[in-house]
Amino acid sequence: MCGITAYTGKGRALPFLIQGLEKLEYRGYDSAGITLVDNKELVTIKTKGALNALKEQLSTLRLDQKAGIGHTRWATHGIPSNLNSHPHTNASNTLSIVHNGIIENYQSIKEGLAMQGYTFVSQTDSEVIVHLLDYYYQGDMKATLQKVMSYLEGSYALCVLNVDEPETIYVAKKESPMVLGMDESSAFCASDIPALISYTKDMISLEDHQMAVLRPGTIEIFDQQGQKVEPKIIHIPYDLEAAQKNGYDTFMEKEMHEQPYVIKETLRGRIENSIVMPELDSIDLHEYDHVYLIACGTAYHASLYAQYLGREWMDIPITCVPASEFRYGNYIVNDRSLCIFVSQSGETADTLAALKMCLEKNAMTIAVSNVLDSSLARLAHIPMYTCAGPEIAVASTKAYTTQLVLLAAMMVKLAQNSGYEVKDIDQFIYDLKQIPNLVKKTLEKKEIIEQYAKLLKDQRDAYFIGRQLDYVNVLEGALKLKEISYVHADAYYAGELKHGPIALIDQGTVVIALATQKEVAAKTISNIEETIARGANVILITAPGIHSEKIERQIKIEAVHPYLSGILVTVLLQLFAFYTAKEKDCNVDQPRNLAKSVTVE
Ligand code: M6R
Repeated sequence: MCGITAYTGKGRALPFLIQGLEKLEYRGYDSAGITLVDNKELVTIKTKGALNALKEQLSTLRLDQKAGIGHTRWATHGIPSNLNSHPHTNASNTLSIVHNGIIENYQSIKEGLAMQGYTFVSQTDSEVIVHLLDYYYQGDMKATLQKVMSYLEGSYALCVLNVDEPETIYVAKKESPMVLGMDESSAFCASDIPALISYTKDMISLEDHQMAVLRPGTIEIFDQQGQKVEPKIIHIPYDLEAAQKNGYDTFMEKEMHEQPYVIKETLRGRIENSIVMPELDSIDLHEYDHVYLIACGTAYHASLYAQYLGREWMDIPITCVPASEFRYGNYIVNDRSLCIFVSQSGETADTLAALKMCLEKNAMTIAVSNVLDSSLARLAHIPMYTCAGPEIAVASTKAYTTQLVLLAAMMVKLAQNSGYEVKDIDQFIYDLKQIPNLVKKTLEKKEIIEQYAKLLKDQRDAYFIGRQLDYVNVLEGALKLKEISYVHADAYYAGELKHGPIALIDQGTVVIALATQKEVAAKTISNIEETIARGANVILITAPGIHSEKIERQIKIEAVHPYLSGILVTVLLQLFAFYTAKEKDCNVDQPRNLAKSVTVE
């Protein structure tokens, strides 16, 4: 996820670009840059680091140009560095582009361009775009951009600046957002509404495969065939603060709703008919005696999920351990150990310390991180990334579900690399591809969850129960609830209730039960009935084909492979925690006593 701003008009472009980037920093903050154009000359200034680093460089310069493009980056290809920062320019410095999204076929385009003599200065996928434009450009940028769009696979929101038309900005979009606006003397665009809202409340949301041409005071929109189309104007009724949260009250709510998009981005280029993860091609599990999954908090729950899949598909010992325990436990680690570390931030102290320990013992290490070039990613032998974009709310939501999908794909890949047969693989892969859409449908169930959350209004405790894979999901559901609503929440194996916890169930106690795994659903339902007999208020989450007449509050997830049901359940439990916290008037984004990144032990 990155942030883009662009401006052309009668006034100075720079103030618009910077104010826009400030509002879009939530989309990325590992580097920033601008290109301005005037008198047939492009001036590009870009730097690694947060926007302040760029502002400091700009502070000593007088830049009066009337058109320009800007970018704030959240790296996905190529570490945060000056060279990888956007904008990217061609060799003759006549074209400049900013890009948000992922170009899936950039390697093959790069190879083709290299054969034509093009050289690349960055490690990014985006740089191919500017050279491709350069290759085809013969004076008609609209036609050139149209042609380039037809070659690009993946997602993009894209702005192009060209010295031949210093007052014109060309824009293209596919699967990454772009909004446009104008007044009598200028036209502008950005990745998101907050960057424009101080200038206009009437905006055009560019659609996939559309192109826009911005000139001072005019905007023209074209479809894929180059035909002019009538722009659809949308009126934004809210103010800047609400706009930064995309109209939601909190970042957590916004981030939950981003899940369909970021899951798609995380899987982009990773699933064809099988899993595409060349980083793992060399890993054959027969060369290892043990696989460890090591992480903290929510990332630990994602690791438990991977452990479950691994154990289903392979016969190698797989152990998942919280990093804070692993560090001090007597685990056998040596050069025949494969250690997988999972962390949104990639900076969690315990996870990092555990990784360093494993490296000292010559283990093979893989890091799954959401932050490109994080300490974890830098130290591990194989870094792998989720593409959740910056997560601002302390409670992890989109980072978790992107970890689930990436780890699911990874486990398939590791099993297949090592010659294990993955049962039902075609259905699993098919359903994995459907997950973004199914998560979208799950989010639509929020009204019913909001109703159920009222059950906890005057309760101090809640109990989550489930068996097998559902147990992983209850752990995460309980963590989310206690983290943001301060309701004491415990997660139990449903079969363990009788061995103690059932003593806690009383009139009105809230029990959230998961029964999505057909083989054990009936058993869990019996356990639920035992809690009802003691007065519990039960909320049951099941999958199609599983039902109990006796339970009043039930919600069904969409039909999906049972090993993927947890992703949909998680979304429901996120919503449940969210609405409970709202009901109790808690600060959802910044819960007490918690930090987003735990960099001390
Ligand atoms: O950045 P990490 O994924 O390493 O963070 C680990 C935990 O601190 C984190 O998942 C924490 O549990 C979340 N706040 C949960 O929502």
